[in-house]
Amino acid sequence: MVTSLRPVVAESPPPAALAWSDRWREVRNRLLASARFRRWAAAFPLTRPVARARAREVFDLVAGFVYSQVLAAALQLRLLDRLAGGPADGASLARAMALPEPAAERLLSACAALGLAEARSGGRWGLGPRGAALIGEPGLAALVAHHAALYRDLADPVALLRHGGATQLAAYWPYAETGAAGGDPSRLADAEVARYSELMTASQPMVAEQVLDAVRLQGQRCLLDVGGGEGAFVQAVAARVPALDLMLFELPAVAARARDRLAGLGLARVRVHGGDFLRQPLPRGADVISLVRIVHDHDDEAVAALLRAVHAALPAGGRLLLAEPMAGTPGATAMGDAYFGIYLLAMRSGRPRTPQRLTALLQGAGFQGVRRLPTRQPLLAGVIEARVKLT
Ligand SMILES: C[S@@+](CC[C@H](N)C(=O)[O-])C[C@H]1O[C@@H](n2cnc3c(N)ncnc32)[C@H](O)[C@@H]1O
Repeated sequence: MVTSLRPVVAESPPPAALAWSDRWREVRNRLLASARFRRWAAAFPLTRPVARARAREVFDLVAGFVYSQVLAAALQLRLLDRLAGGPADGASLARAMALPEPAAERLLSACAALGLAEARSGGRWGLGPRGAALIGEPGLAALVAHHAALYRDLADPVALLRHGGATQLAAYWPYAETGAAGGDPSRLADAEVARYSELMTASQPMVAEQVLDAVRLQGQRCLLDVGGGEGAFVQAVAARVPALDLMLFELPAVAARARDRLAGLGLARVRVHGGDFLRQPLPRGADVISLVRIVHDHDDEAVAALLRAVHAALPAGGRLLLAEPMAGTPGATAMGDAYFGIYLLAMRSGRPRTPQRLTALLQGAGFQGVRRLPTRQPLLAGVIEARVKLT
């Protein structure tokens, strides 16, 4: 079925007066919707580069799901790892990936077009600049692999928006749905938490780098990482600020994994507590508590309860660090609002929030001095700091 792209007439009457910015946008849209204007802009030398870039952006939206699946295939077939070992010819790559040669050539051409691979001298193929960046961040490959679940949930995006229903992503993150439905996530077994915990551990280093470049922890006594997964964040903190005492709070099954992993890293000194942060008080003793990629997983009511629990666990003057990708982040709205907005819808719990909304929730829980700490890559995480009132 081909869906019409003609504008649908709004049922409600337009507002009496449009702001000048709205009027300008209406004019802009009329121009961009006009085939005659687009033809002119593409022909005129001064507007041609912009016209081409706009056409590319629109086409990227149309074809983006294919690009993502090319990347998924390249990673599944370990093509980027193979190219990282040095340039190779198509025939040997086809053999290594167990693909017919024409299919391998097609994948390689697609990867070259997307900057993942590139044609090299002597008819060989090498790693492209985007491929090199991906190889340098193993967490990204893990994220792409787990998108198989989201991809299936998005096969009918309108049904997802209308009805929700059972989704693969909700099964992937069982604590979210269990908690949102009033169940007890602290009963989850190792087999239910292992998959997502491994993904979080693989992708945490790139987030920790952003957070720890943005905050100063020198002078703090003890940090408690709430929902700290298998301990990848406290591991990064220990490497930066070795004198800091460290604690971690997690669901019992994840806490057990964290204990084992941290002991294996020589970090048995981290005190790991198992429990449910929505039902049990948090351990006392930390003067700074971190919530890294936690708040966006939960609906407002749960977030309010969690922030009150964090507030209660901190001493007067204590500090909360909240870090996650945020909605409305200039230059990163596609990630915050589009990717995480839809991702968390499929997960059936939580939403991306703007810093303003997070500030309101923090103030509602009693925090003061709420401020943003700029990160180098806000696309990966923004950071907000808040304080408990000094008595
Ligand atoms: C998105 S993961 C983030 C993990 C880690 N902070 C990171 O950034 O890698 C959310 C974590 O919160 C934990 N969690 C979710 N609900 C919880 C609850 N009610 N009590 C304790 N931990 C919980 C999950 O087990 C999971 O490890």
